[in-house]
Amino acid sequence: MNSKTKYVIGNWKMEPRTAVEARALFLSIKKQSSRIKNTSIIICPPAIFLGDLQMAHSGNKISIGAQNVFWENPSSGRGAFTGEISANQLIDSSVEYVIVGHSERRALGETNEIVAEKLHTIVEAKLTPILCIGERLRDEEGEYLSFIKEQIETALRDVPHNKIKNIIIAYEPVWAIGRGDDAMGPKDMHEVSLYIHKILVSMFGKKIASGVDVVYGGSVERSNAEELIKGGEISGFLVGHASLYADHFIDIVKIVDNS
Ligand code: 13P
Repeated sequence: MNSKTKYVIGNWKMEPRTAVEARALFLSIKKQSSRIKNTSIIICPPAIFLGDLQMAHSGNKISIGAQNVFWENPSSGRGAFTGEISANQLIDSSVEYVIVGHSERRALGETNEIVAEKLHTIVEAKLTPILCIGERLRDEEGEYLSFIKEQIETALRDVPHNKIKNIIIAYEPVWAIGRGDDAMGPKDMHEVSLYIHKILVSMFGKKIASGVDVVYGGSVERSNAEELIKGGEISGFLVGHASLYADHFIDIVKIVDNS
């Protein structure tokens, strides 16, 4: 592994149902994470719970991430954009990381161009982007590799070179998301990790490329986390459903922390 930093990121998606449940889940994760030494834990709740987590978050090493941001008016961070949330507003809620380009948002119409705009906004606001990429399906001809390449090249094309090392890339093949124990195998993960690295080298050179952390997402469980982290050549995980159970999530964090 090239990187010194390890990450376990919980993407709560549109869960849990209430603010009371969100606070309880966060506090339970916080309580169980006191012995974690070498791993950054990031929790990304629905935006409506950011304020609740901000209150529960004080004095803690867990970071808060957002699941989305709006890209217009990045400098003022305000304006007539009904339903949207600016980077400034996220910062005001103690957010440090922002997920961008998640496949579930791409499925709602978010294009590579929009992802690039958002990524630019996040970087300009000095937040850390978690850029999600990943193919919908695997084809025998290897078309999925060009798909991934285009996602990376478009998203990163306008990012200043000195900001690239702050980006986390989350490789999440759509076919592996939400499948229980059916995650990708470590050998395939290793191959994709090398491929992502190769794309970054061709865009930015070896030195910058080696500073970018790649994490894996898609059915990460406490039962498969160990083999993935040991064999996958990755810096950690982006965890969906297992992040909604504090003990499952913390078991995954411990596996990464001890790897
Ligand atoms: P699951 O862990 O539920 O497969 O979700 C992965 C994901 O989409 C995280 O962003």
